Amino acid sequence: MGKTKTAVVVLAAGKGARMKSARSKVLHPIAGRSLLGHVLDTAMASNPERIIVVVAPGMSDVEAVALPHAVVLQPKQAGTADAVKAARDQLADFNAGTVLVLYGDTPFISVETLEKMLAERERGSGIVVLGFRPDDAAAYGRLITDDAGRLKRIIEFEDASASERTVTLCNSGVMAIDAAILFRLVDAVGNDNAKGEFYLTDIVELARADNIECSVVEADANELQGVNSRMDLAEAEGFWQDQRRRQIMSDGVTLSDPATVYFSYDTQFGSDVVVGPNVVFGPGVAVGQGAEIKAFCHLEGVKVGADVTVGPFARLRPGAVLERGVKIGNFVEVKNAVMGEGAQASHLSYIGDAEVGPEANIGAGTITCNYDGYFKHRTKIGAGAFIGSNAALVAPVSIGEGAIVGAGSVITTDVSSEALALGRGLQSNKEGRAAKINAELAAKKAQAKKD
Ligand code: UD1
Ligand code: CA
Repeated sequence: MGKTKTAVVVLAAGKGARMKSARSKVLHPIAGRSLLGHVLDTAMASNPERIIVVVAPGMSDVEAVALPHAVVLQPKQAGTADAVKAARDQLADFNAGTVLVLYGDTPFISVETLEKMLAERERGSGIVVLGFRPDDAAAYGRLITDDAGRLKRIIEFEDASASERTVTLCNSGVMAIDAAILFRLVDAVGNDNAKGEFYLTDIVELARADNIECSVVEADANELQGVNSRMDLAEAEGFWQDQRRRQIMSDGVTLSDPATVYFSYDTQFGSDVVVGPNVVFGPGVAVGQGAEIKAFCHLEGVKVGADVTVGPFARLRPGAVLERGVKIGNFVEVKNAVMGEGAQASHLSYIGDAEVGPEANIGAGTITCNYDGYFKHRTKIGAGAFIGSNAALVAPVSIGEGAIVGAGSVITTDVSSEALALGRGLQSNKEGRAAKINAELAAKKAQAKKD
């Protein structure tokens, strides 16, 4: 038997009432990506022919995340079997192969586990159900197997007898089903149960009645933790971060205080990067070999080159590109700006919408004034330019290569290369004037005391 085609159906129409949120449950993020995003990414990695996401009316926010995959509406949340029916039209021409049903609120399932399930389907099971053994089986559905370990039926907790509730093998909800039998079985499901819902889990018993083999693949309980509340969300985030910290350290990154460093789903590191305590990596960050991110930095959408040092207390915002050997010091913010090789901004600066040439030096307190209240403008600083402390570079403006801008200057017109620009009031010194002022004031004070 050759490898069969796969279609994935992601169930995401549940209300998620326990989140108490205006946002759809599956759009809440873990590691900077929505729960649904995690599921879709894993689904994609299993190379399906198509993916269909089932949502409830009014979930247009979910649609945007699901694109370019198909989105179908389940008009009323009448149960998981009913939810699968919503995908019927999208699967009308998908009669041979496997339909993989995933839940939008179970983000950590691995592609290895999906592949195990698909392999079990290839061996001839009509339905493969993913089971797990959580520490606390709680209210999960239970998988009832025969002596040979084949799946006989799935019983929901509410409908289970006392002895069935002692079964430790639980239903994750994830199933791989022969496309040729799916809708026949789903249509036969009734709703005569504790919740009055159409349970997808009932298709196992229906299939067995037709002599179709059903089996169980087991996965680690950690892969199957679902998110139903904000507490679950925080727990899932913690679990993900902990896994990633270990992974990153084993890949050759030093984390001096791992528990205080937070990563996004896509954070990338070269080897020998050092990260201090209390650093947050938002989405879209790549850090090159040998770079150091000191304590209390926040990075998002940033490319940090090799041997760069950042922080402590730096903020790198989307579009910042720091080329090799750049130095960004304390209380410096960089946004949508390229800093060329070896350029430095060591203290208290805002560099936004800018291009800074190699080896340029940006003095303490320098600000690129990029916004006029309506439009953003760019600042260009040439290679090797020296910007004195507390300069205001009013964009659009360009500073030539090797130019010097005097400290405290407000620069509003372009500076050519090798020029010195001074844009500040002229200083005048009055010799001996301070002594005179002090004598006058002291006399005044003495007179006031007498009166
Ligand atoms: C389901 C399983 C249960 C399993 C548990 C694992 C059934 C009948 N029960 O129970 O055996 O142990 O998951 O977490 O399947 N959904 C829809 N439309 C609906 C109902 C649900 O799209 O009408 C979606 C939800 O958004 C969710 C998923 O299906 O992603 C599961 O639904 P939920 O109501 O949470 O099922 P459980 O009661 O947890
Ligand atoms: Ca659930």
